[in-house]
Amino acid sequence: METVGAASDISTSAGQGKGHGKVILLGEHSVVYGRPAISAGLGRGCGARAERGQPGAADTLSVDPWGVSVHAAQAETDPDRELLRRGFAVLCEALDTRWRDLGRALPRPSVRVHATMEIPGGAGLGGSAALSVAVVRAIDHVLDTPQDSEALVAASIAWERVFHGNPSGVDSAMAVHGGLARYVRGQPLMHVRGGKPLQLVVGNSGEHGSTKSTVASVARQHARDPVKTEQIFDAVASLVNNAQSALEAGEHSRLGQLMDLNQKLLNSLLLSTTKLEEMCLIARGAGALGAKLTGGGGGGCMIALAADVTGSERIARALSDAGFAAFSVEVSS
Ligand code: MEV
Repeated sequence: METVGAASDISTSAGQGKGHGKVILLGEHSVVYGRPAISAGLGRGCGARAERGQPGAADTLSVDPWGVSVHAAQAETDPDRELLRRGFAVLCEALDTRWRDLGRALPRPSVRVHATMEIPGGAGLGGSAALSVAVVRAIDHVLDTPQDSEALVAASIAWERVFHGNPSGVDSAMAVHGGLARYVRGQPLMHVRGGKPLQLVVGNSGEHGSTKSTVASVARQHARDPVKTEQIFDAVASLVNNAQSALEAGEHSRLGQLMDLNQKLLNSLLLSTTKLEEMCLIARGAGALGAKLTGGGGGGCMIALAADVTGSERIARALSDAGFAAFSVEVSS
């Protein structure tokens, strides 16, 4: 089982960086429209190692599990590789500015970055934001170009814009800080102190969920019927506010009920799938206090809240018996 402690900047050694993955407990999608969300950082995420190269040589990024390598300045024909290249180019442009602002000799050294993903992409666990944070941290270490957390979050949001179009910033803030937190778009992350550790199970539907398309689908629904959609967002916001007080009071049964209600509202926005619904039913049948999709939806992962460690093992087993990959996480603050 993975154990996640209080918010922290993951410690890094020279030339290396890490970014946290995350789960959203409540509030995905409505957070894009200025409502609050509550999220928990995962211990696993993404790691990167950066090497300093000759000045003027190509900046390169390779992502090991995907077997993909891109040059910041060399356009790709494959659309997925081109997205990765553009995201990396955005990070390199910000690095150029930082390098000049620090008054360093030009041209700056090039960078070769190797990244490893510990969480699947397209699963709602914040993989792309974790990747950007790991890459920037690794580069900052090897070139000694430090920046504060706020600037790091902003760099990650710029990368996320390439991948997702309209990111709220929650994944980026969580990738930097981790921990248990409340997020409102444009505001700093607010640490939430849970009354007792949360026992969560993360289950993967195995279906690829594209945050870009689910965010675009909600935007279309919002354009068609703004009054109804805003009402749904407001309803989610009250669930999030209630969930924060339940978390702080350690009232996990109440928290679980609020998660179930959030799932109904997400489903009403057409964000759930048959598999995600089935997984939530399996988790509740195995004793979960609440279960819902997490992140962008349309596939990807769901989370279940267990009453205790034994309960979380039972839920993870029930999901894996049904053919779904699942792991347990303890979140404390
Ligand atoms: C993705 O993890 C969460 C969404 O709300 C998108 C975002 O906030 O950028 C679906």
